[in-house]
Amino acid sequence: MKKLMTMLALFMSFCMVCAPMAQAETMKSLRGSEAVKGDAPSENYRWEKDRKPLPRQFVQQPPLIPHTTKGYLITKEFNKCLDCHSWDRTADTGATKVSITHFKTRGGTELTNISPRRYFCQQCHVPQTDAKPLVGNTFKPADGLVK
Ligand code: HEC
Ligand code: HEC
Repeated sequence: MKKLMTMLALFMSFCMVCAPMAQAETMKSLRGSEAVKGDAPSENYRWEKDRKPLPRQFVQQPPLIPHTTKGYLITKEFNKCLDCHSWDRTADTGATKVSITHFKTRGGTELTNISPRRYFCQQCHVPQTDAKPLVGNTFKPADGLVK
């Protein structure tokens, strides 16, 4: 009886591991089979020229980065973006102060410095290159933002 149970247990674990593999589907991405040429921006794309801040498409949009960010490192110890955008630097650098919303934690506590959930700026703010859009898009800016 014990032997039978062991066999059964072995068989069950085999099914659990191998069945999903057999069912695996081939994934189809929205951009079809065209591969991304590399991490944008990379040597495959050209940076757009630095310019004035870009118009926003909806009120809560993280503003696009209107300048190149080549070599701007963000590590545990140092954040290149804050080198210009932190409140104590903007008078000298002419950069926009990070938004006041960036000091609030997930739990709603206001910190005296940037909140960890806003530390990795490029999670939300993206620089501009000459990369073509991967998929079509019919988005129209919010009424309140159209001149
Ligand atoms: C050398 C200084 C400097 C560094 C470093 C820097 N910026 Fe900037 N940034 C600026 C300046 C100057 C502006 C333009 C301000 C203006 O013209 O009103 C700007 C504009 C922006 C804007 C547009 C703000 C708006 O209201 O539309 C965003 C977003 C931004 N930067 C994000 C970043 C991020 C993210 C990084 C790091 C990857 C970064 N910046 C690094 C100087 C800097
Ligand atoms: C989780 C997304 C997210 C992250 C991460 C983030 N931001 Fe933002 N940022 C936003 C959004 C959304 C806005 C516009 C609404 C607002 O002000 O909160 C914004 C606004 C801004 C503005 C414009 C402020 C103004 O007064 O117009 C600047 C400058 C900026 N962010 C810089 C940064 C920098 C520098 C970092 C990294 C230290 C960063 N952000 C990280 C989402 C983010």
